[in-house]
Amino acid sequence: MFFMKKNILKDADIIIFGGLGDLSLRKIIPAIFYRLEAGQINLNSKVILVSRKKLLISEFNNIIVKSLKNKILKINNIQLKKFLKICFFYSANISDDNSLNQLSSLLRNDKNIIRIFYFSTPSNLFSTITDNLKNNNLINSSSRVVLEKPLGNNSDTSKKINNEILNFFNENQIFRIDHYLGKETVQNLMVLRFTNNLFENAWNSQNIDNVQITVAEEIGVESRASYYNNYGALLDMVQNHLLQLVCLVAMEPPNELTADNVRDEKLKVLKSLRPISKESVDNCIEKGQYTRGKINDKKVKSYLEDIKKFSSNTETFVAIRLYIDNWRWASVPFYLRTGKRMSKRKSEIVINFKNIPHNIFPNKKQITNNKLIIKLQPEEKIELVQTVKIPGPGGYRYKPTSLVLDYSSSFKDRFPEAYERLLIDVIRGNQTLFMRKDEVEASWVWIDSISKSWEINNTPNKFYKAGSNGPGESILINNHSWH
Ligand code: BG6
Repeated sequence: MFFMKKNILKDADIIIFGGLGDLSLRKIIPAIFYRLEAGQINLNSKVILVSRKKLLISEFNNIIVKSLKNKILKINNIQLKKFLKICFFYSANISDDNSLNQLSSLLRNDKNIIRIFYFSTPSNLFSTITDNLKNNNLINSSSRVVLEKPLGNNSDTSKKINNEILNFFNENQIFRIDHYLGKETVQNLMVLRFTNNLFENAWNSQNIDNVQITVAEEIGVESRASYYNNYGALLDMVQNHLLQLVCLVAMEPPNELTADNVRDEKLKVLKSLRPISKESVDNCIEKGQYTRGKINDKKVKSYLEDIKKFSSNTETFVAIRLYIDNWRWASVPFYLRTGKRMSKRKSEIVINFKNIPHNIFPNKKQITNNKLIIKLQPEEKIELVQTVKIPGPGGYRYKPTSLVLDYSSSFKDRFPEAYERLLIDVIRGNQTLFMRKDEVEASWVWIDSISKSWEINNTPNKFYKAGSNGPGESILINNHSWH
């Protein structure tokens, strides 16, 4: 395949806490299967799912098969058998100190084998798990730990969790995952910017009017009502995925593509975000919550019905106008919006270039500004909107037209899912696409400025119908319109 060398990687034992949880079964297990099928995961590897449930081996195998069948249309039975052979189940109630004392019998005691502890549980359990691992002597020099987001729910809790983990693992053993960084189209942002002189020369406040980043989802809160109601769109999506997209659009070129060089540059962006105050918050941020509506002609419930509560001030939509106070981006607004139960699933970044300073054409018809539209999902495309002449006599008539690069027609292979790429990076020990401690902390500082301001102002949600594009947008955009 074009995207990855298929050499078999180092042997690994992968231990997934929260192993039977939604994320593990929907994303992590299929990702490991795909990489096994691609010949990258060694057949001596072990995948151990830890959960408090008690299961028979046959029940466990059925769960694994179901998780794969939900994701993969045609499963090769030979590969499936190989996969089931490397999957194991370990039942443990992690709050019980002795719960991991049998785990070592499943693990291989060899320093050449990478031992990956994947924490796919709520982050308030991370330190209990780490303590238990330590007390059972399960952490060795070849251990790595993968931490799922969100890490805490504000700066203080995030720092506390990071420090607790750092008592037992070094920073180079810690992989803080943000799966958006593993998406092919997101990784392409760096290639697009830093291999094409055409764009990089125009990538600044002299040429760019505004940047718009949208991550819209059709789904609601699914089976995660209690988690979601404690977090909301700001902490669930903006603190991590959207801010990482902002970083990739706004960062300076690192001098080399090494983990620390890239993360140093992203950190500078996060530190330059203009803090939001209680005076500015209601003017530059809009929060909303969905009510009943229709998506694809199907009636869907309101948020309160989904979470089975009479009231909640949790936002399921947020739109933000932010500024990056540095030389390159001075005065350029970045508009971010994300929401659940929107009309369409769509993630895209739109770079709106400034309009030409003077129109020489006699008809003086409005000239549309150039736009670079980077479609991340479900469509994977790059469009460059430019003005061209409409053929024919009768003077100069023109209209905006797109130059389109469609990934699916340019690259026929299946794109690996984000988790595949990221898991392989963990085995390889490559931290470029993972967040460093200082990066996570800087993003929380900015997010805290919003949460605190909302709390002081007691900012209410605006309501929007499920299946719409969110509540009114006027306060954010001023004289621009959302793409
Ligand atoms: C997760 C959020 O991190 O990302 C979910 O917790 C969200 O609420 C999901 O649905 C979106 O990911 P993707 O890859 O489907 O865009």
